[in-house]
Amino acid sequence: MNIDLVNDIKSDIKVEFLDKKTLKEHKRYKKLKKAGFSAEQDSICFLHEKGILACGIEDNTTDNIRSVVSVAIKTLKNANYKSVSFDVNNKNIKAIVEGVVLGGYEFNRYKSKPKKSKLKDIYLACGNINEVKEKFNEAIIIADATNFTRDIVNTTPEDLNPPSFATLARKLAKENGLACEILGERQLKIEKMEAMLAVGRASRHDSKLIHLTYKPKKKAKKVITLVGKGLTYDSGGLSLKPAASMVTMKMDKAGACAVLGMMKVVSELKLDIEVHAFIGAVENMIGGDAYKPDDVLVSRSGTTIEVRNTDAEGRLVLCDVLDFAQEKVKSDYIFDFATLTGACMVALGQYTTGIMGHSGKLKHDFYQASVNSGELVGSLPFNGHLKKLLKSGIADISNTASKPFGGAITAGLFLDRFIKEENKNRWLHFDIAGSAYTETPWDCNVYGGTGAGVRLMSSFLKNIK
Ligand code: BES
Ligand code: ZN
Ligand code: ZN
Repeated sequence: MNIDLVNDIKSDIKVEFLDKKTLKEHKRYKKLKKAGFSAEQDSICFLHEKGILACGIEDNTTDNIRSVVSVAIKTLKNANYKSVSFDVNNKNIKAIVEGVVLGGYEFNRYKSKPKKSKLKDIYLACGNINEVKEKFNEAIIIADATNFTRDIVNTTPEDLNPPSFATLARKLAKENGLACEILGERQLKIEKMEAMLAVGRASRHDSKLIHLTYKPKKKAKKVITLVGKGLTYDSGGLSLKPAASMVTMKMDKAGACAVLGMMKVVSELKLDIEVHAFIGAVENMIGGDAYKPDDVLVSRSGTTIEVRNTDAEGRLVLCDVLDFAQEKVKSDYIFDFATLTGACMVALGQYTTGIMGHSGKLKHDFYQASVNSGELVGSLPFNGHLKKLLKSGIADISNTASKPFGGAITAGLFLDRFIKEENKNRWLHFDIAGSAYTETPWDCNVYGGTGAGVRLMSSFLKNIK
């Protein structure tokens, strides 16, 4: 599918957005009404003989347009039109690009006979191309990076394991002019990252710590550290997951995949910020060499951790990666992305990313980024009482809480223990357990990885002063 800006072009079919009011004023009102179209949000109606596809919106918001374009593009891909056009302007172009590129996404790598669509050309018609060009290019870069993230989330654990994930990161670095450093298990031992190493011990694949760096040509306005949980598979370890919960656990690398997508955006938009990505790529498996409930691990920071559940492995990887990252780079902001807890979905629902941290100002900036990007976020508050649940009888801290309530927050509080005092207000933790993957389409998301975090973080990073 090609998507391009044009001045004026004849396409096979033209998309028109209609709300209840504009529907009544439409030239073809009677025909549309007869067809049962009442401009409900996300409803669509073809007037084939007129070359029109009517798309219903509640009102003219970015979210509504993106959502109905996602519905329309899926239908169009299965129809027999070769080209479609949309009238675009500076207000709606981002939503239309996202609807087309994200809503029209398909992952066909494992299909022996992928369906071929007749739809080839998407024309975005506007009076003056120069006026919308910048917004168009930016929207394409961010949407493409989101689909790049989705592709890697969707890739099977056999094809993407810690070493092949590191190879993929190296390829991205080469293509996008990023510095790339990869630490294998021998170096991780030298770094004393025993918590991270324990999680990957029963895997036949070597664990990898990946560090990518983007430096701008101009002086950087700010330095940002991004950390990603990269569990290429989470079986739960010896605290084995039930069969049904193990399916989809290839997506436990979605935090790492999102961080790679963010690096792609930053380098392609050539932002004036320095960005470091730290990814812990590990596979959590069972076997004679597996780490165990009852083990005590000495983390890189020296804090000792009682393992009470090997399925709470993400925090064990992240605590060492966060400690490493803070020592290597002094940054203005530290953001970690992780499919960390099922409890986050219980708290916020499956569509919303949970945000935790100490800085009200930073959290507020991300509410704004949420509104601007269309990704949903909700804040989960830390409190000192929940901290007590992580007490261990034998070590400094336990990797699971002693009560099953507030599990997303206690996981966040576990990570907080590894954030240095001077960084407390610079750090936010993003739990994307619910938002990173879906088995039913919603908004511009289709089956599989959603790319959660990429649009959100891009919006924040673009606006850094
Ligand atoms: N990767 C899971 C969290 C998860 C669950 C992500 C469902 C996406 C969908 C994580 O490693 C995990 O298993 N967490 C446990 C923690 C518990 C043992 C304290 C959980 O959420 O049950
Ligand atoms: Zn787990
Ligand atoms: Zn996990």
